[in-house]
Amino acid sequence: MKRIFSGVQPTGNIHIGNYLGALIQFVELQDEKDSECLYCVVDEHAITVPQDPKELRQHILDVASLYMAVGIDPKKSIVFVQSSVPAHAELGWILNCCANTGELFRMTQFKAKSQGKESVGAGLLTYPVLMAADILLYDVDVVPVGNDQKQHIELTRDLAIRVNSHYGKDTFVVPDGRFLKAGARIMALDDPTAKMSKSAKNEHSRISLLDPPSKIKKSIMRATTDSEGSVRFDIENKPGISNLMNIYSAFTGKTVQELEDEYAGRGYGDFKKDLVEVTVSALSPIQERYNAIRNSDGLIDVLREGGERADAIAKKTLKRVQDRFGLGL
Ligand code: TYM
Repeated sequence: MKRIFSGVQPTGNIHIGNYLGALIQFVELQDEKDSECLYCVVDEHAITVPQDPKELRQHILDVASLYMAVGIDPKKSIVFVQSSVPAHAELGWILNCCANTGELFRMTQFKAKSQGKESVGAGLLTYPVLMAADILLYDVDVVPVGNDQKQHIELTRDLAIRVNSHYGKDTFVVPDGRFLKAGARIMALDDPTAKMSKSAKNEHSRISLLDPPSKIKKSIMRATTDSEGSVRFDIENKPGISNLMNIYSAFTGKTVQELEDEYAGRGYGDFKKDLVEVTVSALSPIQERYNAIRNSDGLIDVLREGGERADAIAKKTLKRVQDRFGLGL
């Protein structure tokens, strides 16, 4: 049996980067034989930066509904909210005592988020340790994520190996990250040198999963490309069109080579128009399902039940770790 775990922050604007880098893998892995998947809405990670409490509650339900709208089936996978399992925060504390501040200050996401700020919350620094706790609590083998989480997965592995060498080699399972080829790093449409992000000011920098066709069209048609005009994959010199080709490829399964052949001698206009169609037809069934699920009565029950199932697994691991560390009675 292979255990899979991943999580998404409930911060609104879930976009095609989240989908093509992570969510699409969640569904793929759920349907693999002998896998047990846990998919978590990581609300405790969201409060590392200030959140409006009312909005946060809504975003938790939004993300849980999106999980199911993209195809995660709560009968096959455990879908739950992080804060409903107290062991995440408890193991997070234990792991904080095993992590070094130096390695946390070196995290590129911490550097980016704290840059230029006079004072930053301690949670922003220790965020990757809580992420390690999320994963290690469930004896996870595989963590499907986008490329931007690579360093955090490395830290998780380092912490697991460190604890194992001090407290016994089977204290934690050492997990592996799982990254896709085309979707692992979707870039911003207005600036293909920056990652597509939920928080960028320009709404045309991203395509959110719930965007209507008119917005999708506008964002793609005005996406930054170059003046050469040929549909050719070259990340270094043609990052804009290469990013669009990655998106096209991730949605359709066509290789970059196939796209180059298909669009040889045709301009960016044709390519973009087709990409609009590909994107709209991939997202519209997700949007339909989302609307039905988000307004259904059963949503909270699904999350409660998922929380209970996750809690039962997490409690056992936490007890094992506490015993190894000599905590409690
Ligand atoms: P979050 O909420 O920022 O993103 C959710 C998932 O989407 C991926 N992703 C992308 N993939 C491709 N291109 C992009 N532009 C892009 N932007 C985001 C992320 O890699 C992620 O897989 N720390 C995590 C949440 C987390 C977690 C965990 C993940 C907390 N605990 C345990 C896995 C396991 C985060 O902030 O993801």
